Amino acid sequence: MTKIQQQPQLIIRTKAVGELPRLVRKAGHQCVVITDSHLRSKANELSLEIKKAGLPCSLLTVPAGEKSKSLVVVEELCEALVKTGLGRDGVLVALGGGVIGDLAGFVASVYMRGIPFISVPTTVIAMADSSLGGKTGVDLASGKNLVGTFYPPMAILMDPTLLETLPDREFKAGCAEIIKHGVIHDERFFTFLEKNRESILARKPALILKMLKQSAKVKLTIVGEDPREALPARPNSTNRSRMLLNYGHTIGHALEKLSEYTLPHGEAVAIGMIEENRIAVKKGILTKDAATRISTLIENFGLPTKLPKEATMARMKKLIARDKKKVGSSIYFALPTGIGSADLFPYDLA
Ligand SMILES: NC(=O)c1ccc[n+]([C@@H]2O[C@H](COP(=O)([O-])OP(=O)(O)OC[C@H]3O[C@@H](n4cnc5c(N)ncnc54)[C@H](O)[C@@H]3O)[C@@H](O)[C@H]2O)c1
Repeated sequence: MTKIQQQPQLIIRTKAVGELPRLVRKAGHQCVVITDSHLRSKANELSLEIKKAGLPCSLLTVPAGEKSKSLVVVEELCEALVKTGLGRDGVLVALGGGVIGDLAGFVASVYMRGIPFISVPTTVIAMADSSLGGKTGVDLASGKNLVGTFYPPMAILMDPTLLETLPDREFKAGCAEIIKHGVIHDERFFTFLEKNRESILARKPALILKMLKQSAKVKLTIVGEDPREALPARPNSTNRSRMLLNYGHTIGHALEKLSEYTLPHGEAVAIGMIEENRIAVKKGILTKDAATRISTLIENFGLPTKLPKEATMARMKKLIARDKKKVGSSIYFALPTGIGSADLFPYDLA
């Protein structure tokens, strides 16, 4: 049986995807690529490359969109994997955005009690955020990501050329997670984003590579201190909680649910960051100037900044109360304490 690595190999460079056949051969004797309906032709190309390298390779496609992140689709995929003959000597490749990464990663973690997978992220969100940190999962009718596992891929191939076909709206949505990394951990990176916004939005390759590398560094630093999100349950630890990465997400997840997942994740997080800043300013932990600098950057990246009108206080509280990070009647909000720093603060929902 192939051993599942704990620390994924991370390759970030132009044409990184060319490494896929070699890595697949290293990982198993058979391969199945899982992708979504928008990426089928790219997935076909990659499967052909894998076959040329001498390995049997099948392709499974799910409909694009958050609705595919469900237990029903997990079961369908597992049945389909059995039909391809994939055994424990096989390897899965997740080609797609955060939906495919979360879904295929979850399938890899439960299929035959776990087989290796390789992540090939194709959106900014997936490259900057969801492919890193080992979280997989699917949604339930009652909320997002309520079923999942910690199951890192054996390798992550980040190839900015895969972003060439990404629609502008999705590209900008991904930038919300990148801005988040600057706010919670790295003021210099935040300033880099302020200075280079135009070139990033024009998708200049050198800047995209620099941005992805720095963003990955921030995420991996925070995840490394609390890989399984066990803090703040450990009171005397000097490590920071991975929950800091939830800045913008407590309100963001509620907004996504409220919109029945028609609002892209990154846009929900953008609005979530601005709304959570209001809480931080009200608590006296963030200055108004810092909050304005953050909302200006979010706006300059072409992201939405206003709560939709249906997001009433009562509805939002009800949705937030279902968040899996609730502790008793409190929810922990990750709030910025400046540009480049953040902390966790309990908020009473009662
Ligand atoms: N596991 C984690 O730590 C983590 C972190 C952040 C977000 N997420 C999850 O990620 C998901 C959001 O990710 P997303 O925004 O990438 O969504 P997504 O996977 O739905 O992709 C967005 C859209 O872009 C299309 N697309 C993807 N790559 C493309 C390309 N290169 N060219 C053209 N079209 C392309 C997809 O088909 C889809 O329609 C959510 O489910 C969220 O919960 C997980």
